[in-house]
Amino acid sequence: MSTDNRIRIFDTTLRDGEQAPSASMNVDEKLRIAHQLEKLKVDVIEAGFPIASDGDFEATRKIAQTIKHCEIAGLCRANAKDIDRVWEAVKYAGERGRIHTFIATSDVHMKYKLQMDEEQVVAKAVEAVKRARGYTANVEFSAEDAVRTRLPFLARVVEAVIEAGAAIVNIPDTVGYTIPSEYFNIIRYLKEKVANIDQAILSVHCHNDLGLAVANSLAAIEAGARQVECTINGIGERAGNCSLEEVVMSLNVRNDILPYRTNIETTHIYATSRLLSTITGIMVQPNKAIVGANAFAHEAGIHQHGVMMEKSTYEIMTPESIGLNQNKLVLGKHSGRHAFKQRIDSLGYDLSAEDMEKAFVRFKALADKKKQIFDEDLDAIIADEIIRAPEKYKLVQMNVSSGSFAAPTATVEMEIDDKLKKVAVIGEGPVDATFKAIRKLAKSKARLLQFSIDAITGGTDAQGEATVRLEEDGREVIGQGAHPDIIVASAKAFINAINRLYSRHNGTKKPSL
Ligand code: KIV
Ligand code: ZN
Repeated sequence: MSTDNRIRIFDTTLRDGEQAPSASMNVDEKLRIAHQLEKLKVDVIEAGFPIASDGDFEATRKIAQTIKHCEIAGLCRANAKDIDRVWEAVKYAGERGRIHTFIATSDVHMKYKLQMDEEQVVAKAVEAVKRARGYTANVEFSAEDAVRTRLPFLARVVEAVIEAGAAIVNIPDTVGYTIPSEYFNIIRYLKEKVANIDQAILSVHCHNDLGLAVANSLAAIEAGARQVECTINGIGERAGNCSLEEVVMSLNVRNDILPYRTNIETTHIYATSRLLSTITGIMVQPNKAIVGANAFAHEAGIHQHGVMMEKSTYEIMTPESIGLNQNKLVLGKHSGRHAFKQRIDSLGYDLSAEDMEKAFVRFKALADKKKQIFDEDLDAIIADEIIRAPEKYKLVQMNVSSGSFAAPTATVEMEIDDKLKKVAVIGEGPVDATFKAIRKLAKSKARLLQFSIDAITGGTDAQGEATVRLEEDGREVIGQGAHPDIIVASAKAFINAINRLYSRHNGTKKPSL
Protein backbone atom coordinates (compact mmCIF):
# COMPACT_ATOMS: atom_id res chain seq x y z
CA MET A 1 0.00 0.00 0.00
CA SER A 2 1.41 3.41 -0.89
CA THR A 3 2.41 5.83 1.88
CA ASP A 4 -0.37 8.10 0.67
CA ASN A 5 -2.85 5.63 2.13
CA ARG A 6 -1.51 6.01 5.64
CA ILE A 7 -4.03 7.68 7.98
CA ARG A 8 -2.55 9.45 10.98
CA ILE A 9 -4.53 9.13 14.18
CA PHE A 10 -4.51 12.31 16.25
CA ASP A 11 -6.00 11.52 19.64
CA THR A 12 -7.57 14.47 21.46
CA THR A 13 -9.08 12.59 24.41
CA LEU A 14 -6.95 14.62 26.81
CA ARG A 15 -7.91 17.97 25.27
CA ASP A 16 -11.27 18.01 23.42
CA GLY A 17 -12.41 14.81 25.16
CA GLU A 18 -11.72 16.34 28.53
CA GLN A 19 -14.25 19.06 27.74
CA ALA A 20 -17.05 16.50 28.21
CA PRO A 21 -19.08 17.14 31.38
CA SER A 22 -17.39 15.45 34.40
CA ALA A 23 -14.44 14.27 32.29
CA SER A 24 -11.76 16.50 33.77
CA MET A 25 -8.64 14.60 34.77
CA ASN A 26 -5.68 15.44 36.97
CA VAL A 27 -2.07 15.33 35.81
CA ASP A 28 -1.40 11.75 36.95
CA GLU A 29 -4.60 10.49 35.33
CA LYS A 30 -3.69 12.19 32.05
CA LEU A 31 -0.23 10.68 32.18
CA ARG A 32 -1.68 7.23 32.70
CA ILE A 33 -3.95 7.66 29.66
CA ALA A 34 -1.02 9.01 27.61
CA HIS A 35 1.00 5.85 28.35
CA GLN A 36 -1.94 3.76 27.18
CA LEU A 37 -2.30 5.86 24.01
CA GLU A 38 1.35 5.23 23.30
CA LYS A 39 0.75 1.48 23.58
CA LEU A 40 -2.18 1.90 21.23
CA LYS A 41 0.30 3.59 18.84
CA VAL A 42 -1.64 6.74 18.09
CA ASP A 43 0.46 9.11 15.97
CA VAL A 44 -0.32 12.29 17.91
CA ILE A 45 -1.52 12.87 21.48
CA GLU A 46 -3.13 16.26 21.97
CA ALA A 47 -2.24 16.60 25.63
CA GLY A 48 -3.98 19.83 26.58
CA PHE A 49 -4.61 23.53 26.14
CA PRO A 50 -1.66 24.86 28.14
CA ILE A 51 -2.76 28.50 28.50
CA ALA A 52 -6.11 27.35 29.94
CA SER A 53 -4.86 26.32 33.38
CA ASP A 54 -1.74 25.41 35.31
CA GLY A 55 -3.02 21.82 35.42
CA ASP A 56 -3.29 21.68 31.62
CA PHE A 57 0.17 23.16 31.23
CA GLU A 58 1.67 20.73 33.73
CA ALA A 59 -0.03 17.71 32.14
CA THR A 60 1.11 18.70 28.64
CA ARG A 61 4.69 19.30 29.84
CA LYS A 62 4.88 16.01 31.73
CA ILE A 63 3.46 14.06 28.80
CA ALA A 64 5.97 15.74 26.44
CA GLN A 65 8.77 14.81 28.84
CA THR A 66 7.66 11.22 29.32
CA ILE A 67 6.16 9.85 26.11
CA LYS A 68 8.86 8.66 23.74
CA HIS A 69 7.21 7.78 20.43
CA CYS A 70 4.03 9.77 19.76
CA GLU A 71 3.99 13.40 18.70
CA ILE A 72 2.70 15.63 21.51
CA ALA A 73 0.44 18.54 20.59
CA GLY A 74 -0.75 21.48 22.67
CA LEU A 75 -3.64 23.69 21.57
CA CYS A 76 -3.47 27.48 21.44
CA ARG A 77 -5.52 30.36 20.13
CA ALA A 78 -3.87 32.45 17.41
CA ASN A 79 -2.00 34.81 19.69
CA ALA A 80 1.60 35.08 20.82
CA LYS A 81 1.00 34.40 24.53
CA ASP A 82 -0.93 31.18 23.86
CA ILE A 83 1.60 29.97 21.29
CA ASP A 84 4.61 30.63 23.53
CA ARG A 85 2.93 28.77 26.37
CA VAL A 86 2.34 25.70 24.18
CA TRP A 87 5.95 25.62 23.10
CA GLU A 88 7.12 25.92 26.72
CA ALA A 89 5.12 22.74 27.41
CA VAL A 90 5.76 20.63 24.28
CA LYS A 91 9.40 21.57 23.58
CA TYR A 92 10.56 18.59 25.66
CA ALA A 93 9.35 16.30 22.89
CA GLY A 94 11.78 17.95 20.43
CA GLU A 95 10.66 17.52 16.83
CA ARG A 96 7.69 15.50 18.09
CA GLY A 97 6.34 18.59 19.88
CA ARG A 98 3.47 20.12 17.89
CA ILE A 99 1.98 23.60 18.16
CA HIS A 100 -1.71 23.47 17.20
CA THR A 101 -3.07 26.94 16.68
CA PHE A 102 -6.59 27.88 15.60
CA ILE A 103 -8.92 30.73 14.73
CA ALA A 104 -12.55 30.68 13.61
CA THR A 105 -13.32 31.34 9.94
CA SER A 106 -17.12 31.12 9.62
CA ASP A 107 -19.15 34.32 9.24
CA VAL A 108 -21.09 33.70 12.43
CA HIS A 109 -17.91 33.19 14.51
CA MET A 110 -16.04 36.09 12.90
CA LYS A 111 -18.95 38.49 13.41
CA TYR A 112 -20.15 37.59 16.90
CA LYS A 113 -17.24 35.90 18.64
CA LEU A 114 -14.13 37.45 17.14
CA GLN A 115 -15.63 40.73 15.87
CA MET A 116 -13.11 40.61 13.07
CA ASP A 117 -13.38 40.75 9.29
CA GLU A 118 -11.86 38.35 6.75
CA GLU A 119 -8.66 40.37 6.29
CA GLN A 120 -8.02 40.48 10.01
CA VAL A 121 -8.65 36.73 10.41
CA VAL A 122 -6.28 35.81 7.57
CA ALA A 123 -3.63 38.13 8.97
CA LYS A 124 -3.96 36.70 12.46
CA ALA A 125 -3.84 33.11 11.22
CA VAL A 126 -0.70 33.78 9.17
CA GLU A 127 0.96 35.67 12.01
CA ALA A 128 0.20 32.80 14.43
CA VAL A 129 1.61 30.14 12.11
CA LYS A 130 4.75 32.22 11.52
CA ARG A 131 5.29 32.69 15.23
CA ALA A 132 4.84 28.95 15.83
CA ARG A 133 7.26 28.21 12.99
CA GLY A 134 9.83 30.24 14.89
CA TYR A 135 9.86 27.35 17.37
CA THR A 136 9.20 24.26 15.24
CA ALA A 137 8.29 22.98 11.79
CA ASN A 138 5.63 20.81 13.44
CA VAL A 139 2.79 23.34 13.22
CA GLU A 140 -0.89 22.55 12.78
CA PHE A 141 -3.50 25.16 11.95
CA SER A 142 -7.27 24.67 12.49
CA ALA A 143 -9.95 26.79 10.83
CA GLU A 144 -12.54 26.58 13.59
CA ASP A 145 -16.09 26.06 12.30
CA ALA A 146 -14.62 25.35 8.85
CA VAL A 147 -17.75 23.49 7.76
CA ARG A 148 -19.89 26.64 8.05
CA THR A 149 -17.24 28.79 6.36
CA ARG A 150 -17.79 30.08 2.82
CA LEU A 151 -15.64 27.79 0.66
CA PRO A 152 -13.66 30.40 -1.30
CA PHE A 153 -12.70 32.07 1.98
CA LEU A 154 -11.79 28.72 3.56
CA ALA A 155 -9.56 27.97 0.57
CA ARG A 156 -7.92 31.37 0.93
CA VAL A 157 -7.17 30.79 4.63
CA VAL A 158 -5.82 27.29 3.97
CA GLU A 159 -3.52 28.51 1.21
CA ALA A 160 -2.26 31.40 3.34
CA VAL A 161 -1.42 29.25 6.38
CA ILE A 162 0.36 26.64 4.24
CA GLU A 163 2.34 29.46 2.65
CA ALA A 164 3.20 30.65 6.18
CA GLY A 165 4.51 27.19 7.06
CA ALA A 166 1.68 25.07 8.50
CA ALA A 167 2.51 21.40 7.94
CA ILE A 168 -0.95 20.15 8.90
CA VAL A 169 -4.23 21.96 8.18
CA ASN A 170 -7.34 20.89 10.01
CA ILE A 171 -10.90 21.41 8.72
CA PRO A 172 -13.08 20.97 11.82
CA ASP A 173 -16.80 20.38 11.94
CA THR A 174 -16.88 22.23 15.25
CA VAL A 175 -20.62 22.03 15.77
CA GLY A 176 -21.27 18.58 14.26
CA TYR A 177 -23.35 20.03 11.43
CA THR A 178 -22.13 18.41 8.24
CA ILE A 179 -23.13 15.17 6.52
CA PRO A 180 -20.79 12.77 4.67
CA SER A 181 -21.46 13.93 1.08
CA GLU A 182 -21.06 17.61 2.00
CA TYR A 183 -17.86 17.01 3.96
CA PHE A 184 -16.46 14.93 1.10
CA ASN A 185 -17.09 17.86 -1.23
CA ILE A 186 -15.44 20.37 1.11
CA ILE A 187 -12.26 18.31 1.33
CA ARG A 188 -12.30 17.66 -2.44
CA TYR A 189 -12.80 21.38 -3.11
CA LEU A 190 -9.75 22.24 -1.01
CA LYS A 191 -7.70 19.52 -2.71
CA GLU A 192 -8.61 20.95 -6.11
CA LYS A 193 -8.59 24.70 -5.46
CA VAL A 194 -5.73 25.30 -3.04
CA ALA A 195 -2.56 25.61 -5.13
CA ASN A 196 -0.11 24.53 -2.40
CA ILE A 197 -2.34 21.86 -0.79
CA ASP A 198 0.20 19.10 -1.42
CA GLN A 199 2.64 20.80 0.95
CA ALA A 200 0.43 20.00 3.97
CA ILE A 201 -1.47 17.09 5.44
CA LEU A 202 -5.21 17.69 5.50
CA SER A 203 -6.79 16.78 8.81
CA VAL A 204 -10.41 16.32 9.89
CA HIS A 205 -12.01 16.85 13.27
CA CYS A 206 -15.68 15.94 13.62
CA HIS A 207 -18.15 16.48 16.43
CA ASN A 208 -21.02 14.08 16.81
CA ASP A 209 -24.08 16.31 17.26
CA LEU A 210 -25.95 14.50 14.48
CA GLY A 211 -24.32 11.14 15.20
CA LEU A 212 -22.29 11.44 11.98
CA ALA A 213 -18.77 12.12 13.25
CA VAL A 214 -17.35 8.74 12.20
CA ALA A 215 -19.20 8.65 8.86
CA ASN A 216 -18.03 12.19 8.09
CA SER A 217 -14.43 11.35 8.96
CA LEU A 218 -14.51 8.31 6.65
CA ALA A 219 -15.96 10.41 3.83
CA ALA A 220 -13.18 12.97 4.34
CA ILE A 221 -10.55 10.24 4.12
CA GLU A 222 -12.01 9.13 0.81
CA ALA A 223 -11.77 12.73 -0.38
CA GLY A 224 -8.08 12.99 0.57
CA ALA A 225 -7.78 13.80 4.28
CA ARG A 226 -4.87 11.93 5.87
CA GLN A 227 -5.19 12.78 9.56
CA VAL A 228 -8.24 12.03 11.70
CA GLU A 229 -8.77 13.74 15.05
CA CYS A 230 -10.74 11.58 17.45
CA THR A 231 -11.19 10.50 21.07
CA ILE A 232 -11.41 7.23 22.94
CA ASN A 233 -15.05 6.21 23.46
CA GLY A 234 -15.95 9.29 21.41
CA ILE A 235 -15.97 11.45 24.55
CA GLY A 236 -16.11 15.21 24.13
CA GLU A 237 -18.29 18.25 24.55
CA ARG A 238 -22.04 17.85 23.88
CA ALA A 239 -22.55 14.65 21.83
CA GLY A 240 -18.80 14.06 21.75
CA ASN A 241 -16.13 13.66 19.07
CA CYS A 242 -15.39 11.10 16.37
CA SER A 243 -14.70 7.84 18.18
CA LEU A 244 -11.19 6.49 17.66
CA GLU A 245 -12.16 2.84 17.97
CA GLU A 246 -15.02 3.19 15.48
CA VAL A 247 -13.06 4.97 12.79
CA VAL A 248 -10.05 2.66 13.17
CA MET A 249 -12.10 -0.55 13.12
CA SER A 250 -14.13 0.72 10.15
CA LEU A 251 -10.89 1.13 8.23
CA ASN A 252 -9.74 -2.32 9.35
CA VAL A 253 -12.93 -4.24 8.75
CA ARG A 254 -13.80 -2.56 5.45
CA ASN A 255 -10.30 -2.44 4.08
CA ASP A 256 -11.72 -3.96 0.90
CA ILE A 257 -13.40 -0.67 -0.02
CA LEU A 258 -11.45 1.66 2.28
CA PRO A 259 -7.86 0.82 1.32
CA TYR A 260 -6.17 2.88 4.02
CA ARG A 261 -4.14 1.89 7.04
CA THR A 262 -3.49 3.33 10.46
CA ASN A 263 -0.67 2.41 12.81
CA ILE A 264 -3.08 1.52 15.63
CA GLU A 265 -2.43 -1.63 17.66
CA THR A 266 -6.11 -2.58 17.76
CA THR A 267 -5.67 -5.24 20.46
CA HIS A 268 -5.19 -2.39 22.96
CA ILE A 269 -8.51 -0.74 22.12
CA TYR A 270 -10.62 -2.44 24.77
CA ALA A 271 -8.14 -1.85 27.61
CA THR A 272 -7.83 1.82 26.61
CA SER A 273 -11.60 2.24 26.59
CA ARG A 274 -11.92 0.64 30.06
CA LEU A 275 -9.09 2.71 31.47
CA LEU A 276 -10.71 5.95 30.31
CA SER A 277 -14.08 4.92 31.77
CA THR A 278 -12.45 4.02 35.06
CA ILE A 279 -10.56 7.27 35.30
CA THR A 280 -13.41 9.57 34.30
CA GLY A 281 -16.29 7.50 35.68
CA ILE A 282 -18.02 7.91 32.29
CA MET A 283 -19.18 4.46 31.21
CA VAL A 284 -19.92 3.70 27.56
CA GLN A 285 -23.50 2.77 26.74
CA PRO A 286 -24.00 -1.02 26.41
CA ASN A 287 -24.84 -0.82 22.70
CA LYS A 288 -21.85 1.39 21.82
CA ALA A 289 -20.10 0.09 18.69
CA ILE A 290 -16.82 -1.78 19.26
CA VAL A 291 -16.41 -1.31 23.03
CA GLY A 292 -19.97 -1.48 24.47
CA ALA A 293 -20.80 -4.42 26.73
CA ASN A 294 -23.19 -5.82 24.11
CA ALA A 295 -20.98 -5.20 21.07
CA PHE A 296 -20.07 -8.89 20.81
CA ALA A 297 -23.06 -10.41 22.63
CA HIS A 298 -25.35 -12.54 20.50
CA GLU A 299 -28.70 -12.89 22.27
CA ALA A 300 -30.99 -14.17 19.56
CA GLY A 301 -30.96 -17.96 19.35
CA ILE A 302 -30.61 -17.97 15.57
CA HIS A 303 -27.53 -15.71 15.83
CA GLN A 304 -25.98 -17.80 18.61
CA HIS A 305 -26.46 -20.90 16.55
CA GLY A 306 -24.92 -19.27 13.48
CA VAL A 307 -21.90 -17.98 15.41
CA MET A 308 -21.32 -21.40 16.93
CA MET A 309 -21.31 -23.02 13.48
CA GLU A 310 -19.20 -20.34 11.81
CA LYS A 311 -18.26 -17.04 13.46
CA SER A 312 -18.42 -14.95 10.30
CA THR A 313 -22.17 -15.62 9.91
CA TYR A 314 -22.95 -12.79 12.32
CA GLU A 315 -19.55 -11.45 13.44
CA ILE A 316 -17.76 -8.90 11.25
CA MET A 317 -14.73 -8.70 13.54
CA THR A 318 -13.47 -10.81 16.39
CA PRO A 319 -13.55 -9.64 20.02
CA GLU A 320 -9.86 -10.61 20.15
CA SER A 321 -9.07 -8.03 17.46
CA ILE A 322 -9.85 -5.25 19.96
CA GLY A 323 -8.24 -7.11 22.88
CA LEU A 324 -11.48 -8.36 24.41
CA ASN A 325 -10.86 -11.77 25.88
CA GLN A 326 -14.13 -13.60 26.25
CA ASN A 327 -12.72 -16.22 28.55
CA LYS A 328 -14.75 -14.93 31.50
CA LEU A 329 -13.86 -17.33 34.29
CA VAL A 330 -10.39 -16.57 35.42
CA LEU A 331 -9.14 -16.97 38.95
CA GLY A 332 -10.14 -18.35 42.33
CA LYS A 333 -8.89 -18.43 45.88
CA HIS A 334 -6.13 -20.93 45.08
CA SER A 335 -4.65 -18.87 42.26
CA GLY A 336 -1.14 -17.70 43.05
CA ARG A 337 0.85 -14.57 42.29
CA HIS A 338 2.06 -15.88 38.94
CA ALA A 339 -1.40 -16.61 37.54
CA PHE A 340 -2.66 -13.31 38.93
CA LYS A 341 0.14 -11.33 37.28
CA GLN A 342 -0.35 -13.13 33.96
CA ARG A 343 -4.04 -12.27 33.96
CA ILE A 344 -3.46 -8.62 34.91
CA ASP A 345 -0.81 -8.31 32.16
CA SER A 346 -3.13 -9.88 29.60
CA LEU A 347 -5.82 -7.34 30.48
CA GLY A 348 -3.38 -4.66 29.34
CA TYR A 349 -2.42 -3.14 32.70
CA ASP A 350 1.15 -2.04 33.22
CA LEU A 351 1.62 -2.25 36.99
CA SER A 352 4.77 -1.63 39.00
CA ALA A 353 5.84 -4.47 41.33
CA GLU A 354 4.49 -2.49 44.28
CA ASP A 355 1.09 -1.90 42.65
CA MET A 356 0.91 -5.55 41.56
CA GLU A 357 1.43 -6.63 45.18
CA LYS A 358 -1.25 -4.21 46.43
CA ALA A 359 -3.70 -5.54 43.86
CA PHE A 360 -2.81 -9.13 44.73
CA VAL A 361 -3.55 -8.59 48.43
CA ARG A 362 -6.93 -7.11 47.52
CA PHE A 363 -7.59 -10.00 45.13
CA LYS A 364 -6.90 -12.54 47.88
CA ALA A 365 -9.30 -10.74 50.22
CA LEU A 366 -11.99 -10.80 47.54
CA ALA A 367 -11.34 -14.45 46.67
CA ASP A 368 -12.03 -15.36 50.29
CA LYS A 369 -15.54 -13.94 49.90
CA LYS A 370 -16.26 -14.77 46.26
CA LYS A 371 -15.75 -18.15 44.61
CA GLN A 372 -15.05 -17.05 41.05
CA ILE A 373 -13.08 -13.96 40.15
CA PHE A 374 -13.85 -12.62 36.67
CA ASP A 375 -11.98 -10.10 34.52
CA GLU A 376 -14.50 -7.44 35.53
CA ASP A 377 -13.63 -8.06 39.20
CA LEU A 378 -9.96 -7.58 38.38
CA ASP A 379 -10.77 -4.35 36.53
CA ALA A 380 -12.64 -3.14 39.61
CA ILE A 381 -9.75 -4.05 41.92
CA ILE A 382 -7.22 -2.19 39.78
CA ALA A 383 -9.56 0.78 39.52
CA ASP A 384 -10.22 0.90 43.25
CA GLU A 385 -6.80 0.03 44.57
CA ILE A 386 -4.43 1.60 42.03
CA ILE A 387 -6.11 4.07 39.67
CA ARG A 388 -8.51 5.68 42.13
CA ALA A 389 -6.05 5.50 45.01
CA PRO A 390 -7.36 7.70 47.84
CA GLU A 391 -5.96 11.15 48.14
CA LYS A 392 -7.12 13.53 50.88
CA TYR A 393 -10.12 11.54 52.16
CA LYS A 394 -9.80 7.86 52.92
CA LEU A 395 -12.30 5.33 54.26
CA VAL A 396 -10.80 3.42 57.19
CA GLN A 397 -13.78 1.37 58.36
CA MET A 398 -17.53 1.52 58.59
CA ASN A 399 -20.50 -0.27 60.00
CA VAL A 400 -24.16 0.18 59.12
CA SER A 401 -27.20 -1.14 60.92
CA SER A 402 -30.58 -1.03 59.21
CA GLY A 403 -33.74 -3.05 58.83
CA SER A 404 -37.50 -2.72 59.24
CA PHE A 405 -37.62 -1.67 62.90
CA ALA A 406 -34.36 0.14 63.79
CA ALA A 407 -33.41 3.61 62.51
CA PRO A 408 -30.67 3.13 59.89
CA THR A 409 -27.39 4.20 61.46
CA ALA A 410 -23.97 4.49 59.84
CA THR A 411 -20.75 4.63 61.83
CA VAL A 412 -17.95 5.78 59.58
CA GLU A 413 -14.26 6.23 60.34
CA MET A 414 -12.17 8.20 57.86
CA GLU A 415 -8.58 9.38 57.61
CA ILE A 416 -8.47 13.00 56.53
CA ASP A 417 -5.05 14.60 56.10
CA ASP A 418 -3.51 11.82 58.20
CA LYS A 419 -5.95 12.33 61.09
CA LEU A 420 -8.53 9.72 62.09
CA LYS A 421 -12.10 10.95 62.48
CA LYS A 422 -15.23 8.99 63.35
CA VAL A 423 -18.94 9.76 63.50
CA ALA A 424 -22.28 7.93 63.83
CA VAL A 425 -25.28 9.32 61.92
CA ILE A 426 -28.93 8.31 61.47
CA GLY A 427 -30.46 8.51 57.99
CA GLU A 428 -33.52 7.61 55.94
CA GLY A 429 -31.85 4.41 54.82
CA PRO A 430 -28.38 2.83 55.05
CA VAL A 431 -26.99 4.71 52.02
CA ASP A 432 -28.44 8.02 53.19
CA ALA A 433 -26.95 7.52 56.68
CA THR A 434 -23.56 6.63 55.14
CA PHE A 435 -23.48 9.65 52.83
CA LYS A 436 -24.54 11.95 55.69
CA ALA A 437 -21.72 10.59 57.86
CA ILE A 438 -19.15 11.12 55.11
CA ARG A 439 -20.42 14.64 54.44
CA LYS A 440 -20.15 15.47 58.13
CA LEU A 441 -16.58 14.20 58.43
CA ALA A 442 -15.44 15.80 55.17
CA LYS A 443 -17.48 19.00 55.77
CA SER A 444 -18.77 18.60 52.22
CA LYS A 445 -21.65 20.66 50.85
CA ALA A 446 -21.58 18.98 47.43
CA ARG A 447 -24.95 18.30 45.85
CA LEU A 448 -25.72 14.68 44.99
CA LEU A 449 -26.89 14.60 41.36
CA GLN A 450 -26.99 10.88 40.77
CA PHE A 451 -26.41 7.62 42.59
CA SER A 452 -26.55 4.14 41.08
CA ILE A 453 -25.29 0.69 41.84
CA ASP A 454 -24.68 -2.26 39.53
CA ALA A 455 -23.53 -5.80 40.06
CA ILE A 456 -20.18 -6.20 38.30
CA THR A 457 -20.79 -9.88 37.49
CA GLY A 458 -23.61 -12.36 38.08
CA GLY A 459 -24.35 -14.21 41.34
CA THR A 460 -25.35 -13.01 44.80
CA ASP A 461 -21.69 -12.83 45.83
CA ALA A 462 -20.99 -10.35 43.00
CA GLN A 463 -19.18 -7.11 43.78
CA GLY A 464 -21.31 -4.01 43.61
CA GLU A 465 -19.98 -1.07 41.60
CA ALA A 466 -21.42 2.22 42.84
CA THR A 467 -21.40 5.48 40.89
CA VAL A 468 -21.96 8.87 42.49
CA ARG A 469 -22.20 12.18 40.63
CA LEU A 470 -21.61 15.31 42.74
CA GLU A 471 -21.69 19.01 41.96
CA GLU A 472 -20.09 21.87 43.84
CA ASP A 473 -19.52 25.47 42.69
CA GLY A 474 -20.45 24.55 39.13
CA ARG A 475 -18.03 21.62 38.95
CA GLU A 476 -19.36 18.14 38.34
CA VAL A 477 -17.47 14.97 39.12
CA ILE A 478 -18.15 11.26 39.04
CA GLY A 479 -16.92 8.92 41.78
CA GLN A 480 -16.90 5.14 41.74
CA GLY A 481 -16.24 2.36 44.20
CA ALA A 482 -16.46 -1.43 44.19
CA HIS A 483 -16.97 -3.89 47.04
CA PRO A 484 -18.97 -7.07 47.70
CA ASP A 485 -20.95 -5.03 50.29
CA ILE A 486 -22.96 -2.51 48.28
CA ILE A 487 -23.09 0.04 51.12
CA VAL A 488 -19.29 -0.01 51.38
CA ALA A 489 -19.11 0.31 47.57
CA SER A 490 -21.42 3.36 47.84
CA ALA A 491 -19.27 4.92 50.57
CA LYS A 492 -16.15 4.42 48.46
CA ALA A 493 -17.83 6.01 45.44
CA PHE A 494 -18.91 9.04 47.50
CA ILE A 495 -15.40 9.45 48.93
CA ASN A 496 -13.86 9.04 45.47
CA ALA A 497 -16.12 11.84 44.22
CA ILE A 498 -15.22 14.25 47.03
CA ASN A 499 -11.53 13.53 46.45
CA ARG A 500 -12.07 14.43 42.81
CA LEU A 501 -13.89 17.62 43.74
CA TYR A 502 -11.03 18.50 46.05
CA SER A 503 -8.38 17.95 43.37
CA ARG A 504 -10.43 19.93 40.80
CA HIS A 505 -10.68 22.84 43.27
CA ASN A 506 -6.92 23.04 43.21
CA GLY A 507 -6.89 23.63 39.47
CA THR A 508 -8.29 26.65 37.70
CA LYS A 509 -11.40 26.67 35.57
CA LYS A 510 -10.77 26.70 31.83
CA PRO A 511 -11.72 29.64 29.66
CA SER A 512 -14.03 28.64 26.85
CA LEU A 513 -12.61 28.43 23.33
O1 KIV B 1 -13.99 21.57 17.37
C1 KIV B 1 -13.06 22.35 17.07
O2 KIV B 1 -13.17 23.19 16.18
C2 KIV B 1 -11.84 22.25 17.85
C3 KIV B 1 -10.68 23.04 17.34
C4 KIV B 1 -10.08 23.87 18.39
C5 KIV B 1 -9.71 22.13 16.66
O3 KIV B 1 -11.76 21.52 18.80
ZN1 ZN C 1 -13.39 20.02 18.74
